[in-house]
Amino acid sequence: MKEVSFFFGDSIAKEGLSIIKERLRVEIKTMERALAGNSPDGRAFASLPFAAEMPDLVKKLVKEKQALKPEYVVLIGIGGSSLGASAVEQAVAGNRKGPKLLYADTIDQFSVRAVMGTMEDSLKRKSAVILNCVSKSGRTIETVANFQILLQLLKKYRKDYARCVVVTTDKGSQLWHAALSQGFSVMEIPANVGGRYSVLSPAGLFPLAMAGVDICALADGAAAMAKRCVDRSIDANPAAMSAAVLYHHYQNGRKIHDTFLFSPAFEELGKWYRQLMAESAGKDLDRNGKKINAGMTPTVSLPQDLHSMAQLYLGGPHDKFTTFVKSHDNGPATKVAMMKDFSGLSENIQGKSLSEITNALYSGITAAYRKGKRPFSEMVLPDRSAQSIGQFLQMKMMETVYLCYLMSVNPFDQPAVESYKSEARRMLGSKKVQ
Ligand code: PA5
Repeated sequence: MKEVSFFFGDSIAKEGLSIIKERLRVEIKTMERALAGNSPDGRAFASLPFAAEMPDLVKKLVKEKQALKPEYVVLIGIGGSSLGASAVEQAVAGNRKGPKLLYADTIDQFSVRAVMGTMEDSLKRKSAVILNCVSKSGRTIETVANFQILLQLLKKYRKDYARCVVVTTDKGSQLWHAALSQGFSVMEIPANVGGRYSVLSPAGLFPLAMAGVDICALADGAAAMAKRCVDRSIDANPAAMSAAVLYHHYQNGRKIHDTFLFSPAFEELGKWYRQLMAESAGKDLDRNGKKINAGMTPTVSLPQDLHSMAQLYLGGPHDKFTTFVKSHDNGPATKVAMMKDFSGLSENIQGKSLSEITNALYSGITAAYRKGKRPFSEMVLPDRSAQSIGQFLQMKMMETVYLCYLMSVNPFDQPAVESYKSEARRMLGSKKVQ
């Protein structure tokens, strides 16, 4: 397997790092046990890539639904129930073939209408559309609302609508029972696997496999990375090393973690990680109930931001730590044409490929960070295959758990999100809502 590489040489964190690394040893052992399966808590996600029966179960259902020859699969879900699939789908872009995925992850009426329009055109052409409703709790307002709207539309055009619906949720949730009573297919999100850690469960695997992504390769990559990330030699353990470096900077006033993805195709990966880090580490109480208001603010940058955010990053306050993410694969070769009249406009680019120029820009920005004493680490993907993306996902999930351990916060709950959900439910039940 081609491994993802990590470089921490420019993270400028020497003093204090060995104490932080030492503190992680206990958590690494706990994680090692979780990899073997049967974790009693949220660490259960770590063993998903080793659950050999899971891809088979997913593939069986995919085969059944592909027999309907769908033109679209609509993923109805939000947050952890949607971001993982969209991140992987975008990152592997050219490395998949299958029906298009549409995302119903907002109740913005323009967006919902756009999905409805695309769906209706397809249904009018007598094509099949698969609805995949993903909700761990089975009661998220946005998801339930969109599911009912899109199901109604599907029913209008297909008598066999029940065959076109797959519900992915907690076993025994209200949604689970409702789906069974309607004759829909159901897939289970394992009990201890939380929303934002569920990309390698059926929540992510089913839509991705429908879209033609090689989910076995995704799991293989994740499994290989999981093993690297329980290495007791912390310098060889990318998740522990990255968490230690992030925590060191957090303690020293760098409360912003910028993930600078050197490819627009990785934007959704950045957004997936942003949610993972924000919801896991952003907590008002520590594990003992003491008020601490912990959290690093995750931001996402793309190559275009060299002409937007880079001035702030290099000239602004020293409050950020950056992780650069790039791939050796910059896509099919495209060269700048040789044109005499333009030769003086931008020197030394004629005849060069966009990949060579991208690499020069990358070297330029990292050199500038180095010069400006802006600390950063690097993650280099050998390619954009499902195997490499699987490595990325698993490393980031394990890094987040290690970071939360160091911050003394629970990585698996989201009390503030729950409080907004119950407040919104209360408002919907009151007459004041218009
Ligand atoms: O990570 C999380 O737990 C959240 O982002 C959830 O995924 C999100 O709130 C959606 O919840 P559910 O899957 O229950 O519909």
